[in-house]
Amino acid sequence: MNELDSELVRGHLAALGYRFVPHAEGADVVLYNTCSVREQAEQKVWSRLGIMGKRKQAGAAGTAESGWSSGFVLGVIGCMAEREGPTMMRRFPQVDLMCGPGELDKLPMLIDNACRTRALDSLERAEARAASIALQGNNHRRSSTLAAASDNLEMLDLSRAFDPDRAEHAGRSAYVRITRGCNKFCTYCVVPFTRGAEVHRPPQAIIDECRRLADAGVIEITLLGQTVNHYHYVHGAAVGADGMELPQVGGRANGQRSAVSAQRSTSFADLLRRIHDEVPTIERLRFVTSYPRDFGDDVLAVMRDSPRICRYLHVPAQSGSNRILRMMNRGYSVQEYLDFIERARAFLPDVCIAGDFIVGFPTETDDDFAQTCELLERVRLKNSFIFKYSPRPGTTAIERFEDDVPDDVKRRRNNALLALQGRISAEVHREWEGREVDVFVERISRTSGSSDRRTSRAPHGVELRWERKGTARSMRASHASAEVQEVQLSGRTSGDLIVVFSSTDQNPEGLVGRIVRARVVGSAPLILRGEVIHK
Ligand code: 5AD
Ligand code: SF4
Repeated sequence: MNELDSELVRGHLAALGYRFVPHAEGADVVLYNTCSVREQAEQKVWSRLGIMGKRKQAGAAGTAESGWSSGFVLGVIGCMAEREGPTMMRRFPQVDLMCGPGELDKLPMLIDNACRTRALDSLERAEARAASIALQGNNHRRSSTLAAASDNLEMLDLSRAFDPDRAEHAGRSAYVRITRGCNKFCTYCVVPFTRGAEVHRPPQAIIDECRRLADAGVIEITLLGQTVNHYHYVHGAAVGADGMELPQVGGRANGQRSAVSAQRSTSFADLLRRIHDEVPTIERLRFVTSYPRDFGDDVLAVMRDSPRICRYLHVPAQSGSNRILRMMNRGYSVQEYLDFIERARAFLPDVCIAGDFIVGFPTETDDDFAQTCELLERVRLKNSFIFKYSPRPGTTAIERFEDDVPDDVKRRRNNALLALQGRISAEVHREWEGREVDVFVERISRTSGSSDRRTSRAPHGVELRWERKGTARSMRASHASAEVQEVQLSGRTSGDLIVVFSSTDQNPEGLVGRIVRARVVGSAPLILRGEVIHK
């Protein structure tokens, strides 16, 4: 989500004439896009701001390190700005602007204000700083009926200036947001507070955006939403003065709609089918993150019947203990999670599933944790993202439950779960050996050695050296006719498994952003080793 926000902000500012520089040194404006989900991510930003604040002070005193623009504008955008706004302004008077994730459309105006403010004396500056803050505050939840329909953020998505040179994987992969915010209020999570109420974009706007991206050369689209499968758009409920449909606040989940609204609404399954069918040059359509509840058979059936929809699901379980799930307010039981996984595999035998888990949630006992391990054993995920519980200000969990699992216990459980997942991942990957897969090539990968150069033995025994992308590539083979470069590339299968393969292609960069067919010849816990099949 944050990556997409950065891309949209970048496109918006570039369209207004801002130029981007590779390093903060020398920039007139330095922006940090921040995440609040876990404390560790926030700590990094605090420390970065401390360093940048000192540079700014030095600049103002005329002792700036060479290369730093004196009095550059320092801004914080994203969830941390929304959550920590007032504290941050107090702790870091050097921060000139702050913009929450729900206000990013206002960023150019805020930068403009902050630049003007630089010219003022300090008293005037303190007053003017107020004009460089855009946070939703708590009001947005109370007023989030159809007011969200006039959501200007939609303009930011719609005005997206896609820059293939800056985009992922040679401009062939892109994110498209379908819902914003979240209504789930899991007790540990800060997202409903920082990103606001769940708002669903009109299907036509989403499809148009996919089409524009496809026209710009994109072949892989990842649809984004905090609970992506809850997408549900009721037609006619939110229409602008020009007759165009507007984003609308989410409420009902799939499968709960009435027969009447069913005819006049677009479900997540409908949306997937429409994108798949109406934008056929998109070769891969993926979506994250799925919520384990309300994931209807209709979605699984569309996936099954649509070959270009990836066989990949990311469905956080969070815990294998029903007691902890209840305390987390997740709204499903372990059995319901298991039933969903079973249903998904019945529809899509090849599906690869990833999950998230939190260890050390308040009151979690050894027995609760053992149940999480048991769940992991049973669902056989391809990989898991495992987090130590981090109490977040403003959440129900921090107010109601003491963070009573000691850090060393959290760490131990984290490591144990990682080790268990490692073993399962290795087994899941091994099952793919001998099979053929399509690989979306993402990059020329670094080799296991950290050196830029690698020596490898060509089939005919001549010693070769190659240099990594970004450094001058040179061949030092002793014999001109033996000039074959072996380069390692990596990409992903439709099920999001990472495949690493070698290529002696003259132009390996040309493979990046393309889909190649490969045979899986080996595996490790987190990767498959492939050999390209030349047709
Ligand atoms: N502590 C630890 N992990 C968290 N996550 C969200 N909030 C917290 C928290 N307070 C994890 C969840 C979620 C993922 C994005 O981050 O597992 O799925
Ligand atoms: Fe946070 Fe729960 Fe919403 Fe995910 S579903 S963003 S964990 S509140």
